[in-house]
Amino acid sequence: MAKLADLPPGAMIEKQILARRVAVVNDNGTIIGIQSECAHMRASLAKGGVENGVLTCSWHGWRYDLKSGECLSNPGFRLKRYEVEIDGDDVYVLL
Ligand code: FES
Repeated sequence: MAKLADLPPGAMIEKQILARRVAVVNDNGTIIGIQSECAHMRASLAKGGVENGVLTCSWHGWRYDLKSGECLSNPGFRLKRYEVEIDGDDVYVLL
């Protein structure tokens, strides 16, 4: 899905995999796999900001906890989390 070298802290790489928009995020050294489609109006989250474990949608500012996928702005909404596997410099998302 991505190269570890292309994921410095705070970076996010999004890919369309079949019908899913998926992203890998470097949250202060922890690589996280997460749905990259906002639960509000399905905007891509790739242009959102990542800071201190929180992903913020660039459209209307909904905020998501990266560890759980839970929406902090509107509890009850959440993003799907995906397991990530790292092999050398390769980052894989397990769908
Ligand atoms: S589309 Fe993400 S907050 Fe509205």
